[in-house]
Amino acid sequence: MKITDIIINGFKNLKNVNITLNPDINIFYGNNAQGKTNIIEAIWLLSGSKSFRGTKEKDLIDINSNVANINVNFINNFREQQISATLIKDNINQKNITTNGVKQKNLSSLFGNLKCVVFTPEDLELSKGSPDKRRNFIDLCISQIKPGYFDVLNKYENILIQRNFLLKRISQGNVTNNELDVWDEQISRMGAYITVFRYNYIKKLNIYAKKLYNEISEKTEELELIYNSSVFDELEGRTDYKGEMAKEYLAKIKSNINDDIKLGFTQTGIHRDDIITKINNLPAKDFASQGQQRSIALILKLSQAYILLEETNDAPIILLDDVLSELDINRQKFIMSSIKNMQIIITSCDEINNKIKAHITGKTFNVNNGFVKEV
Ligand SMILES: Nc1ncnc2c1ncn2[C@@H]1O[C@H](COP(=O)(O)OP(=O)(O)O)[C@@H](O)[C@H]1O
Ligand SMILES: [Mg+2]
Repeated sequence: MKITDIIINGFKNLKNVNITLNPDINIFYGNNAQGKTNIIEAIWLLSGSKSFRGTKEKDLIDINSNVANINVNFINNFREQQISATLIKDNINQKNITTNGVKQKNLSSLFGNLKCVVFTPEDLELSKGSPDKRRNFIDLCISQIKPGYFDVLNKYENILIQRNFLLKRISQGNVTNNELDVWDEQISRMGAYITVFRYNYIKKLNIYAKKLYNEISEKTEELELIYNSSVFDELEGRTDYKGEMAKEYLAKIKSNINDDIKLGFTQTGIHRDDIITKINNLPAKDFASQGQQRSIALILKLSQAYILLEETNDAPIILLDDVLSELDINRQKFIMSSIKNMQIIITSCDEINNKIKAHITGKTFNVNNGFVKEV
């Protein structure tokens, strides 16, 4: 998959951006606060995911304007495709979103068309940050391959809110325990389904990550990923999420019911699970150096890209936001050589630009006060 052209106007500070990308490497450089990350964010938005910076939809539009336009042309399986989105500040719920001219309901309907893997400086903390970051990462990876998973996850989260609300009402004596039954059955079925998908994805991720980590550490270290379920002790070979697994899940939540009521929230379930990373058998969260943590994060994202390629038969677009400057030269070279056959979009400050340029070729763009010019 390759982006050919990008047109952006009124997205944050970006003005009249109209550029043709190189099929391999594209570097956007410029001083701080000029709009480099905004370009990555605009592309990411058209991939159907929420802003990785957590920006509210209204704030995606230029503060001095009422309308933001983003248009991306790309080639997928030898076909030319087009995605476009118009956001209107006064009427943020009435977005005009199309794929190949066909109107779409909302931004999340775009999911699964333009497939991207994004690396940001915050991602470098993936292995030591809070578990929700790792869960979100895995959930996004699975959703990119199986959009239906994302719907189940959303439903699970909604039902969890209802259940927690009910727990509080029970503790206040307003309702009885058996009001929970209908929620618990649904939570158990969805939770078992999500567990199976996460477990299997992590198994696959582990294969790629192990191999890549071995290479980046010059065969001196071994990486292992483990899915730590708060519900199941054993997951290998289990697939019956509609039957046995849902039953076991239900029994587990029911066994914690008194504590749940006391605390007013659900203590066990896929919302409490974690992905443990180990280097040479020691948990990276506690033992890995900063350099090792960064290698792990890079390797996880690279593995995500390789799995997407394997599953969809099409390489995703790699968005590297300001991360190369955070890495030493060996890690920079490793990542650039690992994604040789994918289209790459890199943002960087002036200083690092020359260093990167020394070992790659492609197009370079200057970003200055929201204007983008090929140089
Ligand atoms: N809604 C908005 N309207 C106009 N400008 C915005 C908006 N949101 C952010 N900006 C501007 O975008 C710039 C930051 O862009 P960013 O892409 O993060 O910069 P960098 O080049 O450092 O990656 C800042 O100047 C900020 O004021
Ligand atoms: Mg930036």
